[in-house]
Amino acid sequence: MDPRTSDLPGEPTSLWLATAPETGYPPLQGEVEVDVAVIGGGLAGIATATLLKEAGQRVAVIEARRVGHGVTGHTTAKLTALHGLAYAQLIARFGEAKARAYADANASGIREARRLVEARGIDCDLATTTAYTYTEDPDEAQAFHDEAAAGATVGLPIELTDDAPLPYPVAAAVRLGEQARFHPLRFLLALAAQLPGDGSHVFEGSRVLEYRHGEPCRVTTSGGTVRARDVIVASHYPIGDKALYAFRMTPHRSYVLGVRPAAGLPEGLEHAMLYGTKPHHSLRTHPTGEGPLLLVGGEGHVTGEGGNTAERYLRLEEWARRRFGALEVVYRWSAQDNRTLDGVPYIGRAAPGMRHLYVATGFGGWGMTHGLVAGLLLRDLIVERPNPWEALYEPRRVNLHGASDLVGMGVRATRHLLFDRLAGQRSWSVPPGQGVVVRDEEDGSVALYRAADGTLTRLSAACTHLGCIVGWNDAEKSWDCPCHGSRFEPGGAVIQGPAVRPLKKLG
Ligand code: FES
Repeated sequence: MDPRTSDLPGEPTSLWLATAPETGYPPLQGEVEVDVAVIGGGLAGIATATLLKEAGQRVAVIEARRVGHGVTGHTTAKLTALHGLAYAQLIARFGEAKARAYADANASGIREARRLVEARGIDCDLATTTAYTYTEDPDEAQAFHDEAAAGATVGLPIELTDDAPLPYPVAAAVRLGEQARFHPLRFLLALAAQLPGDGSHVFEGSRVLEYRHGEPCRVTTSGGTVRARDVIVASHYPIGDKALYAFRMTPHRSYVLGVRPAAGLPEGLEHAMLYGTKPHHSLRTHPTGEGPLLLVGGEGHVTGEGGNTAERYLRLEEWARRRFGALEVVYRWSAQDNRTLDGVPYIGRAAPGMRHLYVATGFGGWGMTHGLVAGLLLRDLIVERPNPWEALYEPRRVNLHGASDLVGMGVRATRHLLFDRLAGQRSWSVPPGQGVVVRDEEDGSVALYRAADGTLTRLSAACTHLGCIVGWNDAEKSWDCPCHGSRFEPGGAVIQGPAVRPLKKLG
């Protein structure tokens, strides 16, 4: 029998959400006029709004739910320019100048986080750490030599090392010092708290239904409208997709456990952040009142294609026990990231012919550093300062590096769009707390959810973005779309876009 959520250990929330204060910003009502409207209250949106306000702009952040409760509240929060084995690949794909720009941008993102923490007196446990990438697979060793050489080329002191602070053997590793970790939500909430006033605003509970490019642009929610000279879409997956981002990114989910090993932490691990390539796992620690908590990440998959997601938490726990011995699971949570075709985020002007519309998306699991990069780059574009990273992150770029991935993504989305609606059980039973997609002669694909009290909710299983059929995510209790990653509550409300409308209720 498949494991169910009730079998899972730990509190089902992230360390960050469990240890940060609640917010209470008002919803947007009526009409507001600012210089720049920012859609999305995650780190990229709040950092960009903060830097724009520092530059004298009036800003309005419009968040569908609560600021920081999306990807930022579910990250592992590493501030680092060491992104796996990125640099050898960046040089091969883009050449040395753009690879150097990527290194410079991310090093600048870390510096900017430090500056903001210091200048604004933010209490967010910011600490200097060393970042590592390692592998347990000896066949990968050459790639680590190549990455150290690439580091020298792009100006980062990436070193080969054989002493990663882990209690199990690694085949190869590189490290980069002077990186950082922090409490992402306390950082973000402190910045958000300093935004309102002097013509700037933060709105929560305000899902954007539409935005229109023009002079001025108009951003509309069910409660009101923001008129703005410029609009930034920082809503993770761009809503109202004006430039077919849906066809240029793949949404991925991954899982995190906050654990306390009975034997304590291996020496050196408390001041390190590690990224394992084969098998893929992420490790870092964070201080708590009861001593440091070890965050263990892994078990990633394309959104909507994870099978029994509860099982993934159990596999991750099993992996952690094999490596660190007996342990207590304190928290469990999952995160969603978008990967672009060529591995570089899309940050800049969003679409041809729309000079007032900007986007920041596709951070590929490195959203903390890239959220700050987005803030610096978008501020410069909007206030018309030159920025050396503009060409690298250009969202409208066309290149052939991701051509085969583009075909793969298209095939995958088309397969879901065409064939998932033919699937679905014809006879069914739904236990309390569970969902299932069934085939109905009259209504087609139907998403059924039975609440704990036995009430059955019937929804159309067609995602309101482009019509793919959603699947039930057992561990997170959500309907997830495999095409572009929209997620919906059991009752159909949108958790995460690009969809902006709830699943349709059926009688
Ligand atoms: Fe695009 Fe569902 S997210 S069809």
